[in-house]
Amino acid sequence: MENDFIKEVLSRRTFAIISHPDAGKTTLTEKLLLFGGAIRDAGTVKAKKTGKFATSDWMEIEKQRGISVTSSVMQFKYNGFQVNILDTPGHQDFSEDTYRTLMAVDSAVMIIDSAKGIEEQTIKLFKVCRMRGIPIFTFINKLDRQGKPPLELLAELEEVLGIESYPMNWPIGMGKEFLGIYDRYYHRVEQFRGSEEERFIPLNEAGEIEGEHKLKSTGLYDQTLEEIMLLNEAGNEFSEERVANGTLTPVFFGSALTAFGVQTFLETYLRFAPSPKARNSSIGEIDPLSDEFSGFVFKIQANMNPAHRDRIAFVRICSGKFERGMTVNIPRLGKQLKLSQSTAFMAEERSTIEEAVSGDIIGLYDTGTYQIGDTLTTGKNDFQFEKLPQFTPELFVRVSAKNVMKQKSFYKGIEQLVQEGAIQLYKTVKTDEYLLGAVGQLQFEVFEHRMKNEYNAEVLMERLGSKIARWIENDVVDENLSSSRSLLVKDRYDHYVFLFENDFALRWFQDKNPNIKLYNPMDQH
Ligand code: G4P
Repeated sequence: MENDFIKEVLSRRTFAIISHPDAGKTTLTEKLLLFGGAIRDAGTVKAKKTGKFATSDWMEIEKQRGISVTSSVMQFKYNGFQVNILDTPGHQDFSEDTYRTLMAVDSAVMIIDSAKGIEEQTIKLFKVCRMRGIPIFTFINKLDRQGKPPLELLAELEEVLGIESYPMNWPIGMGKEFLGIYDRYYHRVEQFRGSEEERFIPLNEAGEIEGEHKLKSTGLYDQTLEEIMLLNEAGNEFSEERVANGTLTPVFFGSALTAFGVQTFLETYLRFAPSPKARNSSIGEIDPLSDEFSGFVFKIQANMNPAHRDRIAFVRICSGKFERGMTVNIPRLGKQLKLSQSTAFMAEERSTIEEAVSGDIIGLYDTGTYQIGDTLTTGKNDFQFEKLPQFTPELFVRVSAKNVMKQKSFYKGIEQLVQEGAIQLYKTVKTDEYLLGAVGQLQFEVFEHRMKNEYNAEVLMERLGSKIARWIENDVVDENLSSSRSLLVKDRYDHYVFLFENDFALRWFQDKNPNIKLYNPMDQH
C-alpha cells in the first residue's frame, strides 16, 4: 500500500498549457487526449469550445461560452504516467482564475504560433510561471505553414521572455516544404509525410542520415544540418537541472493540427517534467509523499444558474491521499468538514471521485464555505500553505448600487465576492469611491451576475478602461499627487496604489517624482 502510494504520486504530471488565443492550445490538448485514449473522436474538445457540444447544464455563462467545468481538468494515463492537464481559459474567459490555475501545476507547456512568435497573453502567463520557477516546455506550432525562421523564434524567447532555450528537435523546412523534424534528443529524423514504416530515420554517429535517402537530395536537409551544427557549437547545453528550475526551456517543433511531433513531444515531456514537488507552508515544506492529506483551494467556480447556488471549489492535493468521506481541517475557520461530495474531472464527463493523491485536482461541492487560498489538512499540525499572490489588475470600473435602498446587500455582496477572490476592490483616496479591478472582462460580468442573483443587488458599473497599477515601495505618499491620469487609490489591505492612464503617464510621473519608488508585485520575483 505504502509503495503503491509513492508510485502513484511519482507518476503524476500536472501541467497547464499557456498560450495566446489561436496558437493551437485546443488542438494540441485534443491530440494529447487522443494519444492518452481519454477521448475517442477528434473534434470533441474543439466542439466544446465552439459550443456545438452538449454540455451539462452547469453554468449559464460557461454554456454560452461553450466551455464547461468538465474541461477544467483533463486526466489520462500514458506509459505509466497519470497526466493532469489544467485548462487556462484565455481570451474572453481570461480572469484571475487563469493565473491562479498556474499556482496548482508543477510545470507548463507554452505553445507558440510559428508565424506570430511570442504574443501578449503568453507573456503574461509566462511571467506567472516564472514567479514560481516551474519548468516550462515550449511547443512551436503550425510548422505546416510558413512561419518565422526557427533561429529568430529562439532569439525571441530570449529577448522577449528572457529565457534560454534548448531545441530538442529542429524543423526541416516549413509550410509547403515542411519535411519533418531533426530530433536531437532521440537521434533520428521524423518525417512529416510518407508511410508509418518510413516515419523514423535513424542518424549515424556524425548526426546524419546514413547512405542514400530522398530527404538528402533537398537543400533543406543540408540547411538543417548547418543550423544543427550552429546550435551544437553556439547554442545552450542541455541541462536537466536548468529545465527543472525553469531557467532553460526545451523547445519542440511540430504541427498540432496534423498531430505531427505531438507524440514525440508528449513522451519527452513526460520524461523530464517533474512529479509533484514539496510546497512551502507556515510550518516549512510539505512533502508530497507524506501520508497526511493536505491541499489548497485555487479556484472557486460559482454556479450562474440562480436555481443552483452551489459552487465548486477546486483543490490541488499537495500531500497524502484523498478519500471520499474523509474529515479535514480548515485552519482559517478552525473548523472540521466531512468531504462527502467530491468530483473528479474527466475529458468527457464528471464522475464522483473516491480516491486521489498528491498532484491530483479534486472538485468539492461548496455552499459558501471555502475561499480561494484555503488550506485543507488532516494532520495534527494545523498549517497554512503560502498565500496565493495578488495579481496585478489591468481593467477597472467604478461601481455603485443601482438602488440606494439596497446599500446593505451591495456592501455585503462586494465584501464576500472580494474575499472569495472573484474580483479586487480599490477605494479612491479622500472620496472613498469604490473601484473594481480585474485582469479580464469576464470577472466584471460574473461579478454583476452574482451580485444580482446571490445578493439581490443590482450594480452600476462605469468603465474606466485599462490602467497600469503600481504599488509604492514604502507605502508613503502625498495624497495630493492624485490626478485623473495618475489616480491614487487604496487596495483592500489599505496599501496605496497609483492607477496610471497609460505608459506615458507612468513615465511622466516617474520623471516628476523620482523619490517615489513604484513597483508591480508581479515583477517582484
Ligand atoms: P487556441 O485553443 O489556442 O485558441 O487555438 P485552436 O487550437 O483553436 O487553433 C486555432 C486555429 O489554428 C484553428 O483554426 C486550428 O485549426 C489552427 N491550428 C492549430 N494547430 C495548427 C497547426 O499545427 N497547423 C495549422 N495550419 N493550423 C493549426 P481555425 O480556422 O480558427 O479553426 P477551425 O475552423 O480550423 O477549427
